[in-house]
Amino acid sequence: ASTQATSVSISGDIKSQLHGGYSHPLSRAWQSERQLTKSMLIYPLFVTDVPDEETLIPSLPGQHRRGLNKLIPHLEPLIAKGLKSVILFGVPTQPNSKDALGTSADDPTGPVIAAIRLLRKRFPSLFLVADVCLCEYTSHGHCGILRDDGSLNNALSVDRISDVALAYAEAGCHCVAPSDMNDGRIRAIKLKLIEAGIAHQVVLMSYSAKFSGCLYGPFRDAAGSVPSFGSRECYQLPSGGRGLARRAIHRDIAEGADVIMVKPASQFLDIISDAKEIGKDLPVAAYQVSGEFAMIHAGAKAGVFDLKAMAFESTNGILRAGASIVVSYFTPQFLDWLEN
Ligand code: PBG
Ligand code: ZN
Repeated sequence: ASTQATSVSISGDIKSQLHGGYSHPLSRAWQSERQLTKSMLIYPLFVTDVPDEETLIPSLPGQHRRGLNKLIPHLEPLIAKGLKSVILFGVPTQPNSKDALGTSADDPTGPVIAAIRLLRKRFPSLFLVADVCLCEYTSHGHCGILRDDGSLNNALSVDRISDVALAYAEAGCHCVAPSDMNDGRIRAIKLKLIEAGIAHQVVLMSYSAKFSGCLYGPFRDAAGSVPSFGSRECYQLPSGGRGLARRAIHRDIAEGADVIMVKPASQFLDIISDAKEIGKDLPVAAYQVSGEFAMIHAGAKAGVFDLKAMAFESTNGILRAGASIVVSYFTPQFLDWLEN
């Protein structure tokens, strides 16, 4: 018998031998600092004011706008499969439901507050996040109250948005997530929650590093929130603005945010990693936004890659960068794909 095989020299450097460390599915799983689990996922829901509506959103594959009566039957099987959390977006459709002040945002009979009450009662263990913004409710489609020149009036906007956040929290959501990007709204919301005596039971999740760009198109179709003039460039961050994002993250932590969010996700992995470094002591969330989701679907449809493979690879990239919470339109599918 040959003796060559057993006499391999081991006197040299053996750090080059990596394969043994990940030859088994379990040892491969151990390579991830964070493995995707169902409890990391938040599922976006578009809730309209037409109780029996269930309309497919053409630019957002497989996603619907639903009225209150359609929510329970939709969510029941998902909760049975392990759905833990949803984020609610209101979609007012009635004529005259929009005005310059976004008055209908905290209408007690409007879709968000009604959905919070309904879901809280029907699914007590489902964690409810309410997106807080005015753009779905303003006639001009901007994320606040405007001055005559069309720019945001920051003080009025913060006052209004913090009232809306308080109304959602008082209706019973577990988490309020302001996505408007007005300066100082985290502090204003936190103070109102404290004053109302509910700050100890509401998570304040700040969309801190929210970049402007072309990836929100399908969402704005879905929510009917395309600005009627101008753009959001003067309040959402410029895509090259890494330093600005870091400043926004520092500020929002100082103002009382409990969770920091970065969005979009895959185009801003460095920012997610910055958020995790700046906010070592708090959870970082990332929103894989509508345009990212639609792009993955388009790529899969064109045969560039397999949908499930890319859903996992893109989400793993987001986790690797530092997120431990992912807002994802893939949530229903992940509930089928994941074991826990
Ligand atoms: C509202 C809001 C938007 C998104 C979340 N909250 C749209 C926007 O800022 O235009 C985007 C989510 C997505 O694209 O999936 N301010
Ligand atoms: Zn907005």
